[in-house]
Amino acid sequence: MADNSKDGAIDTSAAEAFEKYLVPTIFGPWSEAMIDHAGTKESHNLLDVGCGSGAAARYAAKIVGLTGSVSAIDFNAGMITHARTLDPVGQIDWQQGDVTDMPYDDGVFDIIAGNQLLQFLPEKEEGLSEMKRVLADSGRLALTVYCAPHRNPAHAAVANALEKHGIDSKGVVHPFSYGDPVVLGDLLQDAGFRDVSVVRKQMDSYFSSAENFIDCLAAGGPSSRHALEQLDADGLKGLKAEVTETLAEFMDADKGLRVITAANMALVRA
Ligand SMILES: C[S@@+](CC[C@H](N)C(=O)[O-])C[C@H]1O[C@@H](n2cnc3c(N)ncnc32)[C@H](O)[C@@H]1O
Repeated sequence: MADNSKDGAIDTSAAEAFEKYLVPTIFGPWSEAMIDHAGTKESHNLLDVGCGSGAAARYAAKIVGLTGSVSAIDFNAGMITHARTLDPVGQIDWQQGDVTDMPYDDGVFDIIAGNQLLQFLPEKEEGLSEMKRVLADSGRLALTVYCAPHRNPAHAAVANALEKHGIDSKGVVHPFSYGDPVVLGDLLQDAGFRDVSVVRKQMDSYFSSAENFIDCLAAGGPSSRHALEQLDADGLKGLKAEVTETLAEFMDADKGLRVITAANMALVRA
């Protein structure tokens, strides 16, 4: 998401588009893998940090059941508003807030999980210290952070094409800007977490075509949409043709465009 700064508001319609186009394809599967990797079980009290529209929180709620609890926090009002509509029975405690200053008591969560959040925090140490504060002594923190752009070729192709059109691709590549597993592991160890492990995982998502992938990013990519909306109709058409050519090797006649996402999954103890 190119612009997850506090100034880069995602309105509810963008949150809806994110949930509609990018959660089923990319963010949902990654969120579920992260919740599983964290060892989430029935009765756990779990916190989803940078929850977006709530994919991880909703999946976790099914696992922890009524004897556990799920809380979820995101500073973006549009995301939280939309997330609430997807939780009609109110099983999840949704909070609009900053993960560097959270409204929870010390040591209350068995699991904290954040899919594609850490790279967006300007104050990573502060965010981790706050997560450590609210994590139980026996608790675990799982964080998923994308690898570098060249490991995520579809997103890289869109970023490169934007640059060719004279448009700053910062928003498209920012999510892939914290991809070094050693740096990630060191950051977590320095923050005082124990038993640090970082594993790389890759997933395939399918979009009907490169054009469709770009349309989904333009509608629901909280960051990439700001870059893509700078193109006029002809520019967008040209960019789609270029990306289609670049990604030709990833087109499957039956399944469509294979979009590879690669991320480091960190798991640590309090
Ligand atoms: C790439 S989205 C991922 C959303 C969700 N975790 C998912 O996988 O669907 C990153 C989210 O982190 C949120 N975010 C970024 N910095 C934050 C902060 N300091 N505090 C709370 N949320 C933050 C953004 O608003 C955005 O919803």
